[in-house]
Amino acid sequence: MTPSPEASSSELIKQMKQMVGIAAARRVKSGMVVGLGTGSTAAFMIQELGSLLATGDLKDIVGIPTSFESIVLGKKYGVPIRTLDDVSKIDIAIDGADEVDPAKNLIKGGGAAHTREKVVDTIADTFIVVVDSSKLVDKLGSTFAVPVEVIPMAIAPVTRAIEKLGGIPTLRMGVRKAGPVITDQGNMVIDVKFADIPDPLALEQALNNIPGVLENGLFVNVTDVVLVGEIKDGVPLVREF
Ligand code: 5RP
Repeated sequence: MTPSPEASSSELIKQMKQMVGIAAARRVKSGMVVGLGTGSTAAFMIQELGSLLATGDLKDIVGIPTSFESIVLGKKYGVPIRTLDDVSKIDIAIDGADEVDPAKNLIKGGGAAHTREKVVDTIADTFIVVVDSSKLVDKLGSTFAVPVEVIPMAIAPVTRAIEKLGGIPTLRMGVRKAGPVITDQGNMVIDVKFADIPDPLALEQALNNIPGVLENGLFVNVTDVVLVGEIKDGVPLVREF
């Protein structure tokens, strides 16, 4: 049976994610402290780190997780897990993104993990973003809303403040779970659609200045390297920018 166009396109996206996750893991050197990102692309990177450790091609690394999910994957694939209390620095962090603009600024938080991701990714000496080519945009906000993590008692005033900033807020709801998504910190997420984001840094700061907001998914001036998984003439390849 011939696969539907949707099925083959999701298979191609999976291939791109896998390739780019593996390519990023191969940039890790023995002895490094590695920030372990969250999401389906970062999962391939964590799996590859585990394989490299198992074969002895990589030794003595430790992983600093960015979510409950990355703790589970680190343990599953045999990557030793530590916390930020155990290390004085992070050598390299590898994480996915929902949008990447030409200046390497990001929207993250599709997995509601952007608060821990920002802590880990911003302190890493080198921050590598791993995406498939569908994540590249000319302007942030064109395809994805900005996730904002909010403490539950502040949902109503934060929603009003976001509207005053010109955003259209939607409380993120669970899938196969009644009620809102609850983050690893016990908070909620409001996804905010903006018609235009002319100044991502100013918006990142304005959102974080609203009392009750813990963190938002705009990552500005943080990324060092973007690895993009692409299919060119039917052949999967990884490009760096
Ligand atoms: C989680 C994130 C993810 O990195 C982002 O959503 C990309 O995920 P995926 O690699 O599954 O497309 O920011 O909060």
